[in-house]
Amino acid sequence: PIDDMLGVKFGDLIVVSNRLPMTITRKEDGNHEYKKSSGGLVTALTGMEGREFKWIGWTGMECEEKEERDKLRKELLEEHKCYPVFLKDDDADMYYNGFSNGVLWPLFHYLYEKNTTFNTEQWEAYKKVNQQFCDAIMEVYKDGDMIWVHDYHLMLLPQMLRKARPDAFISFFLHIPFPSSEIYRILPVREALLEGLLASNVVGFHTFDFARHFLSSITRSLGLDTTPRGCLHNGIFSHVHVFPIGINPSQFSSGFQTDACKSRYAYFKDKYKGKKLIVGVDRLDYTKGMELKLIAFEKFLATYPQYRNNVVLIQVGVPTRQDVVEYQSLISHVNEHVGRINSTYGTLDGFPIHYINKSVNFDDLCALYGMADALIVTSIRDGMNLVSSEFIVVQNERCLQENVSVEDGYISDKDSPSTPSNSRSNSGEASAQNFNVGKPPGVLILSEFAGAARSLGGSLIINPFNIIATAKSIFDALEMPPKERIARHRQNYDVVKTNTATKWGSDFMHEFEVACQYQADPALF
Ligand code: G6P
Repeated sequence: PIDDMLGVKFGDLIVVSNRLPMTITRKEDGNHEYKKSSGGLVTALTGMEGREFKWIGWTGMECEEKEERDKLRKELLEEHKCYPVFLKDDDADMYYNGFSNGVLWPLFHYLYEKNTTFNTEQWEAYKKVNQQFCDAIMEVYKDGDMIWVHDYHLMLLPQMLRKARPDAFISFFLHIPFPSSEIYRILPVREALLEGLLASNVVGFHTFDFARHFLSSITRSLGLDTTPRGCLHNGIFSHVHVFPIGINPSQFSSGFQTDACKSRYAYFKDKYKGKKLIVGVDRLDYTKGMELKLIAFEKFLATYPQYRNNVVLIQVGVPTRQDVVEYQSLISHVNEHVGRINSTYGTLDGFPIHYINKSVNFDDLCALYGMADALIVTSIRDGMNLVSSEFIVVQNERCLQENVSVEDGYISDKDSPSTPSNSRSNSGEASAQNFNVGKPPGVLILSEFAGAARSLGGSLIINPFNIIATAKSIFDALEMPPKERIARHRQNYDVVKTNTATKWGSDFMHEFEVACQYQADPALF
């Protein structure tokens, strides 16, 4: 380990994020219910194996009574190794719904016209809450501890921590895109947030583009010099690095092996017998491009009538951030699209879209991933998109269980996946004879605006704003012969099984340790 090598003694790892890995609700009897939270941050952090850490985050609800706070604190610590931050409802509303999700979220996803809610009160709340997180950390912090701050809700926190403990080891990872400096500069408080981050020893992003945008924003907004490796400011060198996040594949492969999942899979298989299945699983967030997805699917049904009664799009829209106005209007827009498409193309025997605005349990989720002939992601901007990785792992597991060979599918250069039209000369059925009988892996249709598109090159990459081309990609996915499906799946699976959450965590921690050593003794470098 680096600390032994170079003489720095590291303490505990403290992970800090707005959200804890569980959503807590108060039951009528005064007890609390804990449900797994959704979203990429929780998936990745809970997927990191082999590293112990203390997790500090907001409880998500106000607790006025000291007795309740003590009870929650005890339960969270004993059962989940988590430390709660308690916020007043008004502060939480302005910090979470207001500044974080009403201003930063849309702007960082290039939707600056939705960024209409900036006001001083929200900004003040954001500062106040970041300070409360700082205070909560200081209650558990010991010399040598490494503090790893996560995401856009806490961009001022590194600087506050640095002020409280100038010698602390501090890092930051952004789970969403960092936009082009031309977009970032719109933000009225652009300087303050950059100053906040530049107190970190390491600042991490999912992709090179995000890191590049961050560095050019520093130059343009703060007038500071940067190098591709980072920026020196107020005596701290912030090392800028790229760490593409991943999942824990075994969580999903074993999820598909349970009896509960197997029985749901068998049930769905029977229910949708004879139909092609396209699956979508997204938080119902306007960045996920759900409306574009539905319009493209409608175009697909209009253009390829042979599929009208033979295909179902199962779309799960996981409820999210329902106190933010933009999310409420999205719900009704999606309902309208689904209603229109189902009434136009539905028959008395069934509907082309099976849509729910609910979360599904893990067994159902894995069963759906396993069922899909294609999974479609149409994000208009997305930090990474881990649903894509989850789908690939479950498809791999299903193929293994159903004895579909995914090992022998490499195809020659002449017949490569980048020239799909060559390999589509045979019908799917004919090609299937060259492989083991069984359903070959599903196809991932993936937006070029998701961070995942940078690495999952085996996908059918789409521009979701191009409706006609997306409709054509849906058709191509359903028609794709087994040989090409296998080759593309194999390419994606190799990436997902290598770039795991554990690797992401350990790569980050490695760079963090090096950066801390640099802070402790720059002369060694
Ligand atoms: C994204 C963000 C996370 C967030 C998640 C769910 O993945 O990067 O920080 O936790 O969305 O959103 P929520 O507002 O429910 O925490």
